[in-house]
Amino acid sequence: MRKSIIAALFLVLLAAGCKKEKVNYTDRLIPEPESVVFTDGAFTFTMNTPIVVTDKGLLPGLKVFRQHMKKITGKDLKVYTSEKDAGRGAKITVKKDAGIAKEGYTLSVGKKGVKIAASTPEGLFYAIQTFMQLCPPDLYKKNVKPGFKWQVPGVRIKDRPQFAWRGMMLDVSRHFFTKEEVLKLLDELSQFKMNTFHIHLVDDQGWRIEIKKYPKLTSVGAWRVDREDLPWNGRAPQKPGEKATYGGFYTQDDIKEIVSYAKDRFITVIPEIEMPGHTTSSLAAYPQFSCTGGPFTVLPGGIWPITDIYCAGNDSTFLFLEDVLTEVMELFPSKYIHIGGDEATKTEWKKCPKCQKRIRDEHLKDVNELQSYFIKRIEKFLNDNGRVLLGWDEILEGGLAPKATVMSWRGMKGGIEAAKSGHDVVMTPTSPCYFDYYQGDVDNEPEAFNGHNPLSKVYKFKPVPEELDGDEARHVLGGQANLWTEYVPNAKHLEYMTFPRILAIAETLWSPVSTRNWPDFAKRVEATFPVFKLQGINYAQSVYNVKIDSDFDPATKQVKITLSAEMPGSEIRYTINDEDLANNSKLYTGPIVLKSSGTIRAAVFKDGKPVGTPVFKDIKIHKATGSKVTYLTPYSKKYTGGGDGCLVNSIRGSKNFSDKKWQAFERDDCDVIIDLGKKEKIEKITVGCLHSPGSWIFLPKELTAYVSNDGKSFRQVADLKNTIPSSAKAQIVDFELKFKPEECRYVKMKIKNLGEAPEWHSVPGSSAWLFVDEIIVE
Ligand code: ACM
Ligand code: ZN
Repeated sequence: MRKSIIAALFLVLLAAGCKKEKVNYTDRLIPEPESVVFTDGAFTFTMNTPIVVTDKGLLPGLKVFRQHMKKITGKDLKVYTSEKDAGRGAKITVKKDAGIAKEGYTLSVGKKGVKIAASTPEGLFYAIQTFMQLCPPDLYKKNVKPGFKWQVPGVRIKDRPQFAWRGMMLDVSRHFFTKEEVLKLLDELSQFKMNTFHIHLVDDQGWRIEIKKYPKLTSVGAWRVDREDLPWNGRAPQKPGEKATYGGFYTQDDIKEIVSYAKDRFITVIPEIEMPGHTTSSLAAYPQFSCTGGPFTVLPGGIWPITDIYCAGNDSTFLFLEDVLTEVMELFPSKYIHIGGDEATKTEWKKCPKCQKRIRDEHLKDVNELQSYFIKRIEKFLNDNGRVLLGWDEILEGGLAPKATVMSWRGMKGGIEAAKSGHDVVMTPTSPCYFDYYQGDVDNEPEAFNGHNPLSKVYKFKPVPEELDGDEARHVLGGQANLWTEYVPNAKHLEYMTFPRILAIAETLWSPVSTRNWPDFAKRVEATFPVFKLQGINYAQSVYNVKIDSDFDPATKQVKITLSAEMPGSEIRYTINDEDLANNSKLYTGPIVLKSSGTIRAAVFKDGKPVGTPVFKDIKIHKATGSKVTYLTPYSKKYTGGGDGCLVNSIRGSKNFSDKKWQAFERDDCDVIIDLGKKEKIEKITVGCLHSPGSWIFLPKELTAYVSNDGKSFRQVADLKNTIPSSAKAQIVDFELKFKPEECRYVKMKIKNLGEAPEWHSVPGSSAWLFVDEIIVE
């Protein structure tokens, strides 16, 4: 709002004939400052611009900028601590102002110079991040001629964050990321004024931090058998004699480097050491700390439920954990130590004599109170060492440890409960803070966890729920994005899942709610894309991907197609059938009605070129479209695909099995009779099936087609056995059954469920699901 008023004023001044300097600047300020006023007059920034920092205590806030400028130009910036030494020309002046909030700053840019004020080095660091976003994107080139002259637009900014905790969590257990990859991420996060990096160092699939007293934690716990070619939830455990070759860990020197690199960027690193569950990796190394004594192996993929956990009845378990935490605390100076606490299934605790004795001795009611005992005991140890315990919201169960801080992930509920009882909380609800979820239409995205958090949804994040009043709300320290990495095999993909969504988290945690404006934010994100390109960040362009929605009208047997893209004001162009997409393809202006089969192709165009991933959808209006279907075996109530018409509505499903386009059968076959309404000549039946073995969805074993004219006596006309292995990657398969032309009114399809998860699967013998979206009769 403020910006448009100023822009209008600027136009008025121009119209009045004032000769004001105008910089060709595209706003890419993220997070949006508390107040911004663009003014006339530009500042010319060069390597000779003196920077005066009169208070030496602020100088650490300039360190990374000096390093950056040296790296890209090979020259040092001229930094002075006395104004006199800097001469009389235009300069950047940094002053200390004790009245400014801890991380806040003011920044004014004008023809005569740049003025910055802050009370802390972090305030100066953030002022510099803003200044860098006002500079041309050339700032991010690898080589810049030191003779550059950059025009920086005139601006007056007053800024400070809304929340003290602006975080991102990275899971380095499910997949390992090297020290260099972590450092690159820290650098990228700091540009958007993020100040907390939570590193999930321990999980069932790998222990990632060197602990000197327990060397097997990394020599054994950091390595797993390599099943990267199989779906995450379908990876059998290590077999005897098999070598564990996938993994890695950070040495203590690596950790020191990560912590120090983060500190230079005013980022606190919070270590997470999971307990009592999610730690098969440590139990593989030291099985004596479990209830059963093992043996265990580091898991190469998903496991559910997590029952092999630390024994809470064994004092040596606590001594071990205290030793580990002692080394962790020496490496991480953070106030908070995250101890996990999530998703521990306590079946072993119910059976274990030691755990049961602990329950009796400590007068505990049940295993939930035993978990509470466990966490409280660890909390006392951390408190005695001057630290605060932080844990996932499961630590509320059985009674919260007295001084614990809660990280609320199963929605806001846990956070609300904790804040109401006077505990600090960090909000990270799965929706919209989980970055392992899809950020676009499932069919156009690489495999991800089955949830949907697109950029616009993340931008709606509100860390303080309405249920909290003023005093309670003060317990909300802030929020963070969590990137679990089951489906993130490498750093390139880490970037893809993080950018641009982390910009939405950065803005919702830094900027006042009053500045929230999705179309404006989306444009600033778009203006940041060229910077990402220069920085070599593999950012997602899912905001440009066209979503094709289709709706079937049984009365007219027509299909209505709607196209949309997340980026506001997108120019969507489309074709029907085999035409290639081009910048003169039809412009989408409203729903398209299809009376016969066709392929829709669509893409967003920008400056005459397609952006994002062009998408397509086949709509097949066939002889069974809109027919009556009789189910000889009922479909599951969990996935109905909209009901009885699902299999003949011409609407195809996506790889998102819960997109309501699929009909599912648990262990059962899909056994249906389709009444075509009148005699039709047919020669091909195509059955669309989903394969997603990580979600227990498998292709059918066999498909058989029958025809009839009375709907009672059927004759087999085709049969097809599936040859795609059950361990193949997630995909949609169209099974085609061809036969010599038949005249018939009724078609019967028997689609045989695999029955149970195969031998190689993580839970062999469990129910197999069969998912069918369409039976196409031609
Ligand atoms: C979690 O997602 N299990 C904290
Ligand atoms: Zn036990």
